[in-house]
Amino acid sequence: MIKKSKPHNSRSEGEVFRELNKETEQKEENMEVSLPKQTEFFKTPTRFGNIPVDELPLGCDPKEQYRKIYPKISLPFQVVERVSFGHSDLEPNQLIFGDNLHVMRALPSNSIDLIYMDPPFFSGRNYNVVFGDQNEVRSFTDIWEGGMPGYLTWLNARLLEMKRLLKPTGSIYVHLDWHASHYVKVELDKIFGYENFQNEIIWFYETGGLSKDRFSRKHDVIFWYSKGKEKTFHGERVMEKRSDEVLRRLATGIKGATRSEGEYRHPTDVWRIPAINSMAKERIGYPTQKPEELLEKIIKSSSNEGDIVADFFCGGGTTAAVAQRLGRRWITCDISKIAISVMRDRLLHLNQLRNTADFLIEHWGVYEVPEIVKMKEGEFREFIIEAYNGRLSSSEGLIHGYKQATPIFVGNPSQDEPITEKQVIKFAEYIVKKRGLHQGEMIAWGFTPEAKNVAEQLRAQHLAIDFVKIELIPIESEQFKEHIVSKHPEYKNLLKFVLPPEIRVIIKRADNLEYEFDVSESVSLNSGSKIINVQWDFDYNGKQFVSTSGYSFIGMKNEKPNLKVVYKFQSAGGKTIACRVQDDEGGEKIRIIRVDVK
Ligand SMILES: C[S@@+](CC[C@H](N)C(=O)[O-])C[C@H]1O[C@@H](n2cnc3c(N)ncnc32)[C@H](O)[C@@H]1O
Repeated sequence: MIKKSKPHNSRSEGEVFRELNKETEQKEENMEVSLPKQTEFFKTPTRFGNIPVDELPLGCDPKEQYRKIYPKISLPFQVVERVSFGHSDLEPNQLIFGDNLHVMRALPSNSIDLIYMDPPFFSGRNYNVVFGDQNEVRSFTDIWEGGMPGYLTWLNARLLEMKRLLKPTGSIYVHLDWHASHYVKVELDKIFGYENFQNEIIWFYETGGLSKDRFSRKHDVIFWYSKGKEKTFHGERVMEKRSDEVLRRLATGIKGATRSEGEYRHPTDVWRIPAINSMAKERIGYPTQKPEELLEKIIKSSSNEGDIVADFFCGGGTTAAVAQRLGRRWITCDISKIAISVMRDRLLHLNQLRNTADFLIEHWGVYEVPEIVKMKEGEFREFIIEAYNGRLSSSEGLIHGYKQATPIFVGNPSQDEPITEKQVIKFAEYIVKKRGLHQGEMIAWGFTPEAKNVAEQLRAQHLAIDFVKIELIPIESEQFKEHIVSKHPEYKNLLKFVLPPEIRVIIKRADNLEYEFDVSESVSLNSGSKIINVQWDFDYNGKQFVSTSGYSFIGMKNEKPNLKVVYKFQSAGGKTIACRVQDDEGGEKIRIIRVDVK
């Protein structure tokens, strides 16, 4: 498995990536990526003089790198869904909801073959306003508060993590445009080394409006860096067709043309690929969606079948969709819940036709309460111990983990089963007899009065069993602010417990076999939050939600989400339909409805 912190579901069926042993994991936690010695990489001919780049990447502290400005926050992953295609023997891929910096910090070094990244471009625009998703609005405006240096610092912290994650033979493709590309190139040279710069790819997309007062801007740039000297490159897999003009010259033997060359040539660094416009077949409606052809070129040329491809700014999921199609494994991440569900849907539609590995949807930093309560005992223990910043210990009977040297016992996932007197005595006996210890902690939703009494009595005998009560504190409450945020200010924007929305559906018959479905009465149970997206599955199979084409991404329409839809069924009779509703705090729920269609 790629991650240090294990997700909390059954792991028996194999995982996306090899499980690393504890020792390696421990080392990795402290492992830093070495930055190239700048003077070596910027030795230019003397006539150029000095280029003022002999510094660390912006925002990088010589000792702590980016942990000084972005402290490390250890939180567990929560598997909220395993999207299954019936091949549980294959290692599942991963789709992670969370801030990529923290997600990446939980993944092991040297584990990924290829990274494509398409970050926000420092364009000053907020694409995500279209969704009204406060999550994103907040994070983007924060990022750019410090202008270009703020943006570069934010990006550099992520680039450095990506370098750590890449295998020694791995590559990274960084997609940008004129807003920031020149500044980012300088930072990339500092992080990856000037000598590892391979190409500046020009993506010429042609479409869009024309400028009257300057040359029209019609290209993006993609910087390709390898991590080291060795790299994967197969230009022969992405040969380019020569233009008609060149072919004509070749055919007629005009001066300058070489007859021996065929219809195709080795690829160049200028790619002419149409952008996704409103007519594009592959368009899923996610703003800034990139064409599959672009990703196909990158993935085919810089990775092999079975390799691991990652995209930590995955948006609508173009990278995963192409990686999947080309037989690569993938791991992707996005900070927007909408991106996660749009991508989930896109892959489901892709995979309906193919036998392929499952994928896990995991959360980092935003946890669904009902899911925690539903966890199996083992998963719950792991989750709680990680959230408590402890260390798991799976083979020690009643000791489930340790916090430093103190043994920990975790109670039952059910909120109705408090720790009993008997459990306290057993745990106390166990730690004394097996470990010769006189101190332990029990973590649970509750403790019976008898359990508390017996703990008091034990204390009198110099055996300290402390109780830690798990509390569900609403994130917006004063209590939360006082107890948690005051101690850990960095948690403020990252740690959230969300509740699913309450879905109310009003169904009206519009015509023969045609119905209107209205969810405008639905409410978010997370304070200050509103409903921002709705998806429909009008042929729900009782197991897996697969949105009906055209009903998978009902984003904003005239500044408001489109909460009413009309659907015409093929035939009359009893139908099971499902509706997935999301709010802007990450709360989400599926409601299943029976409709007697006439
Ligand atoms: C330009 S879009 C990517 C579009 C994508 N390439 C596609 O083809 O659909 C950038 C994405 O980065 C996500 N993002 C921004 N900051 C992030 C962060 N800190 N962690 C994870 N994702 C982030 C945004 O939510 C957005 O979906």
